[in-house]
Amino acid sequence: MAVRALLSAEHISHVYRTPGGDVPALDDVTLRLSGESFVCLVGPSGCGKSTLLRILAGLLRPTEGRVLLDGQPLTRAQRRVGIVFQKANLMPWRTVAGNLALPLELAGTPPAERAERTRAMLELTGLEGFAGAYPGALSGGMAQRVAIGRALIHDPQVLLLDEPFGALDALTREQMSEELLRIWARHRKTVLMVTHSIPEAVLLADRVLVMGPRPGHLVAEVPIPLARPRSLALLHQPDFVALSEQVRRSIRPA
Ligand SMILES: Nc1ncnc2c1ncn2[C@@H]1O[C@H](COP(=O)(O)OP(=O)(O)O)[C@@H](O)[C@H]1O
Ligand SMILES: [Mg+2]
Repeated sequence: MAVRALLSAEHISHVYRTPGGDVPALDDVTLRLSGESFVCLVGPSGCGKSTLLRILAGLLRPTEGRVLLDGQPLTRAQRRVGIVFQKANLMPWRTVAGNLALPLELAGTPPAERAERTRAMLELTGLEGFAGAYPGALSGGMAQRVAIGRALIHDPQVLLLDEPFGALDALTREQMSEELLRIWARHRKTVLMVTHSIPEAVLLADRVLVMGPRPGHLVAEVPIPLARPRSLALLHQPDFVALSEQVRRSIRPA
């Protein structure tokens, strides 16, 4: 029996209507996310990856097709779906703890529960020592940890990440992918992450979805059968390199 998808996109197409004319961004995308699986989405710049993620988060209504969350049509943003963008977008006048707690304050969570969840998220993201720090004092990697913690604070069923490490330098980026592996191992969710780094996708994912040029459509799916736990040490191993090459070829067929 097929496992029922937790979050699915069914025949999603999207056209942006602009004064300069219509911009077709997505063309008939169908995908299913379920269980504790980590899926990465790669594809050329401008192919519609962010558009797809915003549609899956309920932040944008597709021109055609529908999104189902647990069998129900998703028509607006929901706490059960957390999202992280490339920019952390923290409130500069709030501390790290204050930024983490913000979604709970907005939801009217009682103070004691708020404090407990915030403490747990500081611990999960390795930010205990920075609870009282302001965003201006954080490195890019630390700011993204806060953004991930903020997205997880409602304990969503699905986590969507849109190039969360895209603005970080290469070394920090590698560290953050290990960090994300660690967080995910403890806090298993259905994850869909957009990245333009093929090694990052292969390191993190159970399967990699490949999108073709705009209007975006899925052109390949590459399963990543590498054992977990995984670490950066994998990067130079032959099976890792072969899988990366497979993903690369499906993006740019020879
Ligand atoms: N708000 C918008 N209005 C008009 N066109 C848009 C808008 N957002 C994105 N686009 C266009 O849609 C296409 C897909 O964009 P996007 O989803 O951001 O791609 P990706 O994330 O893969 O780089 C691009 O051609 C982009 O210029
Ligand atoms: Mg994008």
